[in-house]
Amino acid sequence: MSNLWGVVPAAGSGRRMATEVPKQYLRVAGSPLLEHALQALLACSELRRLVVVLDPTDRRADEVASLRDPRVATVAGGLERADSVLSGLRSLSDVAGADDWVLVHDAARPCLPPEDMRRLIDAVLASGCGGLLAQRITDTVKRTADGRRVVATLDRTTLWRAQTPQIFRWAELCAALEQMQQQGLIATDEASAMEQAGYEVQIVEGSSRNFKVTVPDDLPIAEYYLKTTVAARL
Ligand code: C5P
Repeated sequence: MSNLWGVVPAAGSGRRMATEVPKQYLRVAGSPLLEHALQALLACSELRRLVVVLDPTDRRADEVASLRDPRVATVAGGLERADSVLSGLRSLSDVAGADDWVLVHDAARPCLPPEDMRRLIDAVLASGCGGLLAQRITDTVKRTADGRRVVATLDRTTLWRAQTPQIFRWAELCAALEQMQQQGLIATDEASAMEQAGYEVQIVEGSSRNFKVTVPDDLPIAEYYLKTTVAARL
């Protein structure tokens, strides 16, 4: 069986959160968001190594206990999320085989349900086709021309909200992200780079709990999910 490696981009500044502390270090339910994300991933025994991509100028990583786990390694990130992911992927070149799988998960998604991650891993390994967790869109979605005037209403039955984890083969994902970089395009997730490169990408339905903490209003929601998940496990 191919190995499974992990990359967690955690080098963002969290501009939309408008706090001095980058969002991955904001504390929710007693721990930094990054700690919750790492604990969810480290619970998966198949993950051989987890590369956490950090901003080397910030000192807050010391507060994240899981960064001292023997399976965890850290590397420096880049300007955009895709640059940080590539930096994490390249750091695996000494150990990863071309066909090995790599799971990429945002530090800003602290409430990943273990059963969602399990379903994604099982679906990818069983089919050999890379994929991502995603959530059905229940709102009616509009497209605007100028940020104000509506020009279209999209067919929501075909639309999905992409989440992470996303799992793809190591060499294919490196090449797909590099290709987008060379074209001057910014991939906001791994799947978009794989789609651009012509690969088939599968969706595995995930839950709304696995949302990305982005604005201050998201923090109490994450707190609620984390507390109720822990309570449910007791
Ligand atoms: O900014 P956004 O919410 O899309 O960030 C998603 C994830 O990517 C976060 O965990 C963030 O820390 C990470 N990121 C990164 N390097 C960047 C920008 C974002 O690792 N340059």
